[in-house]
Amino acid sequence: MKFELERLKRGRSREVVRVMIVLQLMLALTIMLPIGVMAGGDSSECYSCHREAVTEIRESVHYVNGVDCMDCHGGVHLTNGSLITKDVMSGNFVGAPTRTEAPEFCSKCHEEVGDDYESSVHRVTPEKPDAPECRDCHGGGHGVIAVSDPASPTYRPKQLEMCVRCHANHEMMEKYGVDTEVLETYEDSYHWKAFKFGQLKAATCLDCHGTHAVKSEDDPTSSISKSNLGGTCGKEGCHKGVKPGARVWMGMTHYNQHAQKPDLVFDKSKLDIKERAYYLGPINLAFYIEIFFIILTCTVAIVLIIFVLLDLLTRIKLKRHF
Ligand code: HEC
Ligand code: HEC
Ligand code: HEC
Ligand code: HEC
Ligand code: HEC
Ligand code: HEC
Repeated sequence: MKFELERLKRGRSREVVRVMIVLQLMLALTIMLPIGVMAGGDSSECYSCHREAVTEIRESVHYVNGVDCMDCHGGVHLTNGSLITKDVMSGNFVGAPTRTEAPEFCSKCHEEVGDDYESSVHRVTPEKPDAPECRDCHGGGHGVIAVSDPASPTYRPKQLEMCVRCHANHEMMEKYGVDTEVLETYEDSYHWKAFKFGQLKAATCLDCHGTHAVKSEDDPTSSISKSNLGGTCGKEGCHKGVKPGARVWMGMTHYNQHAQKPDLVFDKSKLDIKERAYYLGPINLAFYIEIFFIILTCTVAIVLIIFVLLDLLTRIKLKRHF
């Protein structure tokens, strides 16, 4: 009996110890939690001085995925929980990047995209200030949202608008010697007509030109160079079955404008080999057909005029006689 009582007492005191340990652990956690968060570079270190930036970034794809102020801006952790100083912005701190610095700033984490962008014609340099950098297309530095978000400028139905903002600006494009009529000629295409009526799979600018590695037609590594165009048209989800080496460049997406210039038909020196092949056929057939019809039309017109004149002359002669 005595033995039983001893055991019961011992059990109770063990239970009390257990509860005490759990309570202590919980207390320690609640104390450590804010310290831990701050040491992790949470926005709270910056919040006291940069409320606007912190509020701005709350909606961004970065904040949602745990990318914080210091991941982008660097800096030194100098908080002890009670004192926050401006010194957090020292060490490897980077402030707001300029237009030429931004691609490197973002590519720290988006390396592949950064490499593509570096190789593209769009790379911003002091001589090329109008070219787009990351923020021009992605909605600012703190405002970047996911590509699939309908509010994003990179959302598929809005991508055309994004390219056209600059490429329909004739003044800007003339400055760089780039074709100014790309929107007009794209709008003549079947792709645009299908896209406009809701067939969002139809090709728009980036499907042919690429997103970050946009390159000139003359660059052999470009998606629109003659040797690569077959592969571009034959992409998965587009015209599967087109062989990479196929000469689909004869289709010339943006060139139909030139066909409407009659001088080009006679002054063949203005046509490059590609256009000549496309508009005049392999043995300049279109050229000779054009000449044949011009001669035919002129002959018919001249003969007609002669007939009218002869008729007139006879009428005058007849009037004089009677
Ligand atoms: C994805 C990277 C990124 C993150 C994360 C980020 N920033 Fe920025 N920050 C930028 C860029 C880029 C700029 C340049 C201005 C711009 O493009 O909006 C900038 C500019 C600033 C500026 C200068 C004033 C201004 O708004 O132009 C402040 C202040 C700032 N950030 C504070 C913060 C704080 C505080 C946080 C955390 C809440 C933060 N940033 C998180 C990229 C970032
Ligand atoms: C004690 C206040 C204070 C704290 C804390 C603080 N900053 Fe600043 N920050 C400033 C001041 C002041 C400026 C200068 C503002 C100006 O030049 O207009 C500044 C400027 C900046 C800029 C812009 C620099 C530029 O290139 O124009 C960035 C980015 C920035 N802070 C990021 C941060 C980040 C990230 C944190 C947290 C890790 C942080 N700051 C914490 C006060 C603070
Ligand atoms: C000419 C406009 C433009 C520029 C400049 C641009 N982007 Fe993009 N970016 C886009 C579009 C459009 C998409 C969505 C493509 C799609 O639909 O798949 C995208 C997608 C992305 C994606 C997600 C998908 C992927 O390809 O990994 C990341 C990350 C990205 N961009 C980062 C960057 C960075 C970093 C820079 C600067 C070095 C940059 N972008 C420059 C237009 C641009
Ligand atoms: C500290 C690393 C870091 C920096 C610097 C950074 N990002 Fe990001 N970014 C991420 C992470 C992490 C994600 C979310 C996961 C993912 O989609 O890869 C992301 C997502 C994105 C997305 C969404 C991709 C999608 O699939 O929708 C875009 C667009 C993007 N970042 C653009 C930028 C731009 C523009 C900059 C420069 C202003 C930048 N990033 C700077 C780490 C970073
Ligand atoms: C912020 C303005 C801007 C935006 C947005 C933009 N571009 Fe450009 N683009 C330019 C400039 C400026 C050049 C000229 C660069 C050069 O000549 O070196 C250029 C050059 C090009 C070229 C090469 C032209 C040539 O003759 O070499 C192509 C192709 C192109 N862009 C396609 C696109 C596509 C596709 C998009 C949409 C994803 C787009 N651009 C978005 C400004 C822009
Ligand atoms: C179906 C594919 C396709 C689509 C869609 C398309 N392009 Fe093109 N683009 C090409 C090809 C191929 C070339 C080169 C040959 C030519 O001009 O036809 C080209 C040439 C260009 C050039 C001149 C490049 C140079 O090096 O001379 C620019 C700029 C351009 N496109 C911008 C755009 C813009 C902006 C859009 C959207 C409004 C667009 N393209 C839509 C395939 C396409």
